[in-house]
Amino acid sequence: MSIQWFPGHMHTTRKAIAERLPDIDVVIELLDARLPGSSANPLLAEMTRGKPALKVLNKQDLADPELTALWLAHYQALPGTNALGLDASVTAPARQLVSACRALAPGRGGMVKPVRVLICGIPNVGKSTLVNTLNGQRAAKTGDEPGITKIEQKILLANDFYLFDTPGMLWPRIAVDEAGYNLAASGGIGRNAYDEEEVALALLARVRERYADRLMARYKLSDIAALADEALLADVGRKRGGLLPGGLVNMQKAAEVALNDFRGGAWGRITLETPEQFARWLAVGQAQDEVREARRAARKKGAPAPE
Ligand code: G4P
Repeated sequence: MSIQWFPGHMHTTRKAIAERLPDIDVVIELLDARLPGSSANPLLAEMTRGKPALKVLNKQDLADPELTALWLAHYQALPGTNALGLDASVTAPARQLVSACRALAPGRGGMVKPVRVLICGIPNVGKSTLVNTLNGQRAAKTGDEPGITKIEQKILLANDFYLFDTPGMLWPRIAVDEAGYNLAASGGIGRNAYDEEEVALALLARVRERYADRLMARYKLSDIAALADEALLADVGRKRGGLLPGGLVNMQKAAEVALNDFRGGAWGRITLETPEQFARWLAVGQAQDEVREARRAARKKGAPAPE
């Protein structure tokens, strides 16, 4: 299965971002620290190529600190890129964000050349929470600029520092299957775009690779090494009120329990992917895309499709 989800309003967001970009000095992309690669928007990467970038690994309180450190180092090694970890418990995030952005745009600053920053991120990554905190900190929200767009919000973070906020945006086609599952598991994709049981199975398969002990502790299971993923999900249901009359397990209920537990941090701090792992998934997704593209081109020309 691959999960696809691109509600119509996201086209509007994409247009608004494209309109604003020429005036932007630094693009902040808010990522989910539990799935930085999967929550990064390839459409945004394409639109902002060459612009200084600040990757903010948000919800770091839910992510594995060791893997967060790996991801931060990965981004910091990229040209024109900086990265920092953040979560909603940080009461004054503006200071960190402003200084990281200033370092990325050394030629800007002062009233004549204010630093102009765009903040983007997929839905549910915690952007409203962060923007509300930033707004509360400076309470200096300015109105919409006529003629640009009605959906963006401009926040003054310092006298010479503007932050432009846009609604969350996903991309039209998720080429990496694992990214689709990880996004769905994190709650980043609308519920009706995927099958919860399938996503819960993929989540358990991923999590048991690195954190089997956590699952065993949470559901009081003695040894899960020999269990197939379906049997593990059934055990989750059995332990958490998912039993139907006659002893059958309600797998839908079991899936909901597993997904809610993961989303709420009940399994402890967990990260679903490493930079190296994500790079491998991406390479496979891109190779599949190339084959699909070649087939489409051949079909257009009327030639037999390549195998
Ligand atoms: P969005 O604008 O990017 O769509 O995301 P939003 O701020 O609405 O946050 C989505 C959910 O993530 C909210 O939970 C929010 O409380 C939670 N959240 C935001 N930042 C953090 C963080 O740093 N750490 C953790 N653990 N959670 C965070 P919700 O269940 O949808 O709503 P509620 O519980 O706040 O009512």
